[in-house]
Amino acid sequence: MTDPTSRAVSSSMAIRATGLTRVYGSGPTAVTALDSIDLEIPRGQFVVMLGPSGSGKTTLLNLIGGIDTATTGAVAVDGVDVGSLDRSGLTTFRREKVSFVFQFFNLIPTLTAVENIELIAGLTGAGTGECRVALDEVDMSGQGDRFPSQLSGGQQQRVAVARALAKSTPVLLADEPTGALDRASGDDVLALLRRACDEHGRTVVVVTHDQSVADVGDRVLHLVDGRITSDVLNDDPVDPADRGVTV
Ligand SMILES: Nc1ncnc2c1ncn2[C@@H]1O[C@H](COP(=O)(O)OP(=O)(O)OP(=O)(O)O)[C@@H](O)[C@H]1O
Ligand SMILES: [Mg+2]
Repeated sequence: MTDPTSRAVSSSMAIRATGLTRVYGSGPTAVTALDSIDLEIPRGQFVVMLGPSGSGKTTLLNLIGGIDTATTGAVAVDGVDVGSLDRSGLTTFRREKVSFVFQFFNLIPTLTAVENIELIAGLTGAGTGECRVALDEVDMSGQGDRFPSQLSGGQQQRVAVARALAKSTPVLLADEPTGALDRASGDDVLALLRRACDEHGRTVVVVTHDQSVADVGDRVLHLVDGRITSDVLNDDPVDPADRGVTV
């Protein structure tokens, strides 16, 4: 059996969780959203995470991304122990280490596409030029001055991916990034995320309900009731552009 971490391009892990547990609430109504997760994700790996609703996928992304705190256990991202950070350390961590892409794009409606990117990428010192390049990379260079309401869902998500790319973080976390899109637009977005991994060396974790998205990952994790129930390497990931549209 192949070791799922064996594709490491560097000896150190992008993400390392040990005994990671998140319990919401307390007493009889407590919910164990994540139950002692051990996980190592090498740099540059494209991980697809599947699992039923309520299995803990978003909770795991939020802990990796430093927007929620573990009850017990630890998670380190790019060598940083997230649980050890104080408030200002967490702010720096979120700025420098992780970018998020969400299901419903989360663009600010009163800002244009390029302004949406500048707002976030500017935190890391990226200028307007770099933001325009990021838009170019997602094939949206002509649409930078449009507002989100003037873009299709697929175009809005490409802007959201450009925003994540412009931030230049080593880790990119995407929670159902294709969930609100048709198959063709979803495949475009997956192709961009795949490229972030293949050409820019980003470590990418994509959460999805869509079993077919598993084909594009280097590795597929299944979560059930807060535990990893399967962890499989995919030696021959499919190019999202070649998945073929079936309507
Ligand atoms: N802030 C919270 N307070 C209380 N319970 C929560 C909270 N966030 C999540 N949970 C619970 O933790 C469990 C895991 O939730 P999570 O959102 O991680 O699941 P998920 O796999 O992302 O589901 P979905 O596919 O529906 O998005 C669920 O039982 C959920 O109700
Ligand atoms: Mg979720």
